[in-house]
Amino acid sequence: MTSELRFVHFTDTHIVGPGVRLREVETCATLERVVDAVNELRPRPAFVVVGGDLVSPDVVPEVTEGLRQVTDADYEAAYALLRSHLDRLTVPYHVLMGNHDRRGPFRRVMVPGSALETERHRYVVDVDGYRICALDSLDPGKKPGWLGEEQLAWLRDRLREAADRDVVIAVHHHAVPIGLARLDEQMLMDADALWAVIAEAGNVRGVLCGHVHLQHEEVRDGVPVVTTPSTCFQSSKLFKEKQYLAGPPALRLVTCRAGEMTSEVVSL
Ligand SMILES: [Fe+2]
Ligand SMILES: [Fe+2]
Repeated sequence: MTSELRFVHFTDTHIVGPGVRLREVETCATLERVVDAVNELRPRPAFVVVGGDLVSPDVVPEVTEGLRQVTDADYEAAYALLRSHLDRLTVPYHVLMGNHDRRGPFRRVMVPGSALETERHRYVVDVDGYRICALDSLDPGKKPGWLGEEQLAWLRDRLREAADRDVVIAVHHHAVPIGLARLDEQMLMDADALWAVIAEAGNVRGVLCGHVHLQHEEVRDGVPVVTTPSTCFQSSKLFKEKQYLAGPPALRLVTCRAGEMTSEVVSL
């Protein structure tokens, strides 16, 4: 009999610099609130999954207005700042790559000594009889996500070797359309290939996504798939055009028990 697993999914932290506001939100301050909230949870979650778009020095006005190019040094400073916030968590954390991330600076700051800097940051976490598969959907220079055949083959093998265990997949880009054209045109482009791997394996109990900065929940092929609002600025299914809300920061509590994943969003 498998035990219960409780963990937290929060996403789209979009760290730039101390006091920097994006879409009217000070992203360090909201992450701080989310970290504090996680540290206060009882019972304590087993770990946190941080769902990508970890940093985004590429969206500050000087860069978007073309006054200067974003550099690896900008990214490294943002990752160092992110790490200082995440290290305040009293439980382990596991991070994903999003479209605003840059693998080289990320690895240099947050996974020093790791393999090739350009290699996808995908891995498994085995805990309490469960397996988490962390995927990397970053397709450099593009907003939509892409896993690629190599990563899908890797996933197939990781699911197969955990055939007797329940698995949760975490990926930044949404793996199902959420019904908003402006966001669905930048979803996970090879989602159908991912769902084919999931169907073949039969042991995936949930798929956790970020990217859209809003809450969405559905069941595809018998598997719950959810998107979690961000820790900073949010969007809404009511907005047909690109538009943001200045909060509230949110996180998702995830529970796996008896072959099922359930979850709920908590807004702060
Ligand atoms: Fe984001
Ligand atoms: Fe994103």
